[in-house]
Amino acid sequence: MVGSVKMIGVVGGGQMGSGIAQLAAMYGFDVCLLDLNSQALSTASSSISSSINRLVSKSHISQATASDAFKRLRFTTNLNDLSVADFVIEAVVESEVVKKTLFVQLDKIAKTSAILASNTSSISITRLASSTTRPQQVIGMHFMNPPPVMKLIEIVRGADTSDETFAATKALSQRLGKTVITSQDYSGFIVNRILMPMINEAFYALYTHVATKEDIDTGMKLGTNHPMGPLELADFIGLDVCLSIMKVLHAGLGENKYAPCPLLVQYVDAGRLGKKRGIGVYDYSKEPRSIKS
Ligand code: 3HC
Repeated sequence: MVGSVKMIGVVGGGQMGSGIAQLAAMYGFDVCLLDLNSQALSTASSSISSSINRLVSKSHISQATASDAFKRLRFTTNLNDLSVADFVIEAVVESEVVKKTLFVQLDKIAKTSAILASNTSSISITRLASSTTRPQQVIGMHFMNPPPVMKLIEIVRGADTSDETFAATKALSQRLGKTVITSQDYSGFIVNRILMPMINEAFYALYTHVATKEDIDTGMKLGTNHPMGPLELADFIGLDVCLSIMKVLHAGLGENKYAPCPLLVQYVDAGRLGKKRGIGVYDYSKEPRSIKS
């Protein structure tokens, strides 16, 4: 089936949706990026342009490749434009209600042959699939942030995902230059099941005054060769996203060790959502990066 994928629909113009759209266009697919909010779409369009232009300026891709990628990208606020897509990837807000509502709509307008994939970081694929009439064609396709750079796609099979859908999604992921891992449909899948408790533990270390934020991050960067420390990474991912994944782990796996750290909860309550808001654990409003007391 994947050989016949020409047009990919991407829903959601945030960090992940725009990164996925950029990646797919750079790998030769026609892409239609949908967001109901036209302001979000124009932000997505400029972030894709600057990301692709940066690759040209670093000589990673030629100007011709960049121009071809731009030509393959289309932006829309009209869901019906996805009716021609062969494969749809949703990357909207991490809310089961919002995603289910979207899947109901996509199920109505998408080609009967189209696969509906979710980039959810932790919500049950089985439950999302059950809101459609094609659960066998629903699958999790979890990209890592930033999608154009990170080498992994985590594929999640729902209870009814067919072997054909799995094979097509795996082949598509490989055509996008990624290595695939496969997870069953349990809370947090593989990556977030392991990553988020580490980030949560870093918040506990900060909360209980084990060390400064800088030393916690430096410890993990230099001590274990992570490209970013856990608190810096949490800011990069979004503290709201980290908190919502911890809640899914806590509810789904039912053990106290997954309880979100009160400091993480407090930061989210305060609107300190990380880099996208200019402040999270760190303050990004000043240069060089400084710590808000
Ligand atoms: N598009 C294309 N290329 C990009 C890019 C983008 N949006 N952002 C960065 N790059 C490329 C740069 O061009 C550069 O390439 P080069 O080294 O070949 O010239 C390379 O990536 C490194 O970029 P920078 O020099 O700007 O910055 P860094 O060296 O600091 O790297 C980083 C940035 C790749 C984000 C690195 O810090 C990193 O790997 N961080 C960890 C990211 C991570 O763990 N992501 C997973 C989060 S978990 C997740 O996503 C799951 C979710 O469900 C929560």
